[in-house]
Amino acid sequence: MTQAHDDGLEAFVRGLPKAELHVHIEGTLEPELMFQLAERNRTPIRFGSAEAVRAAYGFSNLQAFLDIYYEGAGSLRTARDFTDLAIAYFERLAADGGVHAELFFDPQTHIVRGVPMAEVVQGLVTGMDEARTRLGVTSKLILCFLRHLDEAAAFATLEAAMPFLAHIDGVGLDSSELGHPPEKFARVFTAARELGLKVVAHAGEEGPPAYVWQALDILRVDRIDHGNRALEDPALIARLARDHVPLTVCPLSNLKLCVVDRLEEHPLRRMIDAGLVVTINSDDPAYFGGYLVDNYVRVARALGLSRADLAQLARNSLAASFMSLDDKAAWLGQSRVVDHP
Ligand code: ADE
Ligand code: ZN
Repeated sequence: MTQAHDDGLEAFVRGLPKAELHVHIEGTLEPELMFQLAERNRTPIRFGSAEAVRAAYGFSNLQAFLDIYYEGAGSLRTARDFTDLAIAYFERLAADGGVHAELFFDPQTHIVRGVPMAEVVQGLVTGMDEARTRLGVTSKLILCFLRHLDEAAAFATLEAAMPFLAHIDGVGLDSSELGHPPEKFARVFTAARELGLKVVAHAGEEGPPAYVWQALDILRVDRIDHGNRALEDPALIARLARDHVPLTVCPLSNLKLCVVDRLEEHPLRRMIDAGLVVTINSDDPAYFGGYLVDNYVRVARALGLSRADLAQLARNSLAASFMSLDDKAAWLGQSRVVDHP
């Protein structure tokens, strides 16, 4: 529900230094840029206008979204396209008071169309460099394996990424969750950890608590992406709280993908009350109707979160990031910070 008066909440949230830890860079492709890229690359697009693209964004579940998201990613072909995409996102993040972002990217969806890993990574890195120098926003890259594909494909992707490891900070697991448990990727995650990469995984968005347990015990993740369904299992809640495992929660995504029916029913308040390290993120903002500040403000209004809650959520995002401890301490304004995890 929108408020008739301006209570200053949006400005308050914008003023909080914060990090975005769950954003798929392909999910930041706004329809207007999609059309520009399609024209530049002379690639067909089945919609007549940006408005027609937006009108198609009604999703009944994760898979319905993914089908259109992978189609949209088809407009990205050259390093310049990825640079333009990243810069457009960073400009919005900076305007929202974001100081740091950890970008997911899905190389398999590009490689299968003949776009080499080098084009994708180099294009993104150019955008990340510009964000640092021009906007003062730092960032990291997390390569996601598509879980609807097999283990061999994930290993081939890790192999293709080897020349670019200096630019890649971690690996993640995304795409269709149901039927694709984390254990399917046990060996490739072990290999990634042995390379010194951070590891995260989407779990408990649509999948059961067992998938969150597997992400913790088998993949040995540093953070859980989403984690909503962990609340169904008290022992799992206790484990996440005990180990300070951060959850990267995405309220507007959950609403758009029917993970929750109404924001008022979103589990974020229950997560906070259970002592979990919760962060707020936008996931695929071009598709879900809101960037970082929109996610904070809409869920705060729906759940009646206080300004103190919001400030804590912003601090959590910095503490749960993969920044150095020194950088975290600088942002958190204290000499020693608790690292999560
Ligand atoms: N890829 C992009 N957005 C995703 C989401 N919310 N869940 C799983 N895979 C995704
Ligand atoms: Zn996601």
